[in-house]
Amino acid sequence: MAALARCARAPRVLLALPRAGSRVSALSASASPVLQQHHHVHYAVLPHGRSGRSSVSGIVATVFGATGFLGRYIVNRLGRIGSHIILPYRCDPYYLMYLRPMGDLGQIVFLEWDCKDKDTIQRAVENSNVVINLVGRDWETKNFSFEDIYVNIPRDIARISREAGVEKFIHISHLNADMNSPSKYLRNKAVGEMVVREEFPDAIIMKPSEMFGREDRFLNYYANMRSFGGVPLISFGKKTEKQPVYVVDVAKAIINAIKDPDSKGKTYALTGPHRYLLYDLVEYIFALTYRPYNPYPLPRPIYHLIVRFSEMNPFKPWITRDKVDRFHTTDKKLPDLALEDLGIQPTQLEEKAIEVLRRYRRFRWLEADVAEAKPAKTVPV
Ligand SMILES: NC(=O)c1ccc[n+]([C@@H]2O[C@H](COP(=O)([O-])OP(=O)(O)OC[C@H]3O[C@@H](n4cnc5c(N)ncnc54)[C@H](OP(=O)(O)O)[C@@H]3O)[C@@H](O)[C@H]2O)c1
Repeated sequence: MAALARCARAPRVLLALPRAGSRVSALSASASPVLQQHHHVHYAVLPHGRSGRSSVSGIVATVFGATGFLGRYIVNRLGRIGSHIILPYRCDPYYLMYLRPMGDLGQIVFLEWDCKDKDTIQRAVENSNVVINLVGRDWETKNFSFEDIYVNIPRDIARISREAGVEKFIHISHLNADMNSPSKYLRNKAVGEMVVREEFPDAIIMKPSEMFGREDRFLNYYANMRSFGGVPLISFGKKTEKQPVYVVDVAKAIINAIKDPDSKGKTYALTGPHRYLLYDLVEYIFALTYRPYNPYPLPRPIYHLIVRFSEMNPFKPWITRDKVDRFHTTDKKLPDLALEDLGIQPTQLEEKAIEVLRRYRRFRWLEADVAEAKPAKTVPV
């Protein structure tokens, strides 16, 4: 009866799937499952096929926050191994169009959700065996504080996922999450990790450093600073060390953690292979874009004062005091598991930065060889 009740609430696409006469376990399937299932599932999601886009991986994943930067890379990778993907969204459906072709026909189900309405969370996770929480925002609004985004929403999703019998819950935190951080974002991230562990002890916590990739808000941010005539850096950026990670590596890590039966309850610190002084990293960004690099030191209080003007933007502040503090926080060296423990060789920033930065070059330099830019100096990892 409980099964029928769950089916009754299932999204239309799942209802349209052929029904089993009786419920069967994925463990009993002849194909080797990508995900070890410990609860009974509908036979339509038993793994079969050649593990491509049109096969069935056995993963039914709900991805909260899929419309953001990291989300598209995860949905793409889930789609290409043949997973059912449930994408809760709150935006205009126009902004979801690029996600639609990432899975086979009918494999991606969009559901409207409201993070303050627990029934919509319940509806989004009740048929899934994997839930991924990517909800995030770089600034606070009058509707959502950092506490709402990084503590309350993850707590609700984790609790409801546990109650729904979800196999794997993956929560994205931040490498520098710390109760004592000057950044409110990072303090709330630290609390978020704790509440998620309380609600879902087997949760997998991923702690990426700043991520770079085409749509990032790190390399793009510094490259855009060229319009301001110079780059303000606290202490010239010579007291801040950064170890950025490639967004595709983070997406691969999440997929591998879903497949790895030993990943439950573990925490992963996801960083790139090289560590740089912020000064040298920004210098490399400007070298690659063939733009003059004019850094100047700015004391934190004055930086904060100037940034207040940007914070007045009611839509999307370009920079906030919190982001200044976050970008000038030295990346932690944590003893946690790393990308290599999930079978991933971290990608060098020098290999991929051009994908992000080519658009900032003048026409004259558009095709210039990447090797002409002097590589950024590194510091020991
Ligand atoms: N980007 C980085 O470099 C970085 C580094 C370390 C950790 N992280 C963490 O990794 C996660 C994903 O990062 P990202 O860069 O992909 O984030 P993002 O681009 O800012 O996307 C955040 C997602 O959260 C959703 N969201 C935000 N507030 C919401 C709310 N109140 N209700 C419902 N949905 C809401 C957004 O939906 P809408 O599109 O509708 O707004 C969007 O889909 C975040 O937790 C972030 O803190 C990011």
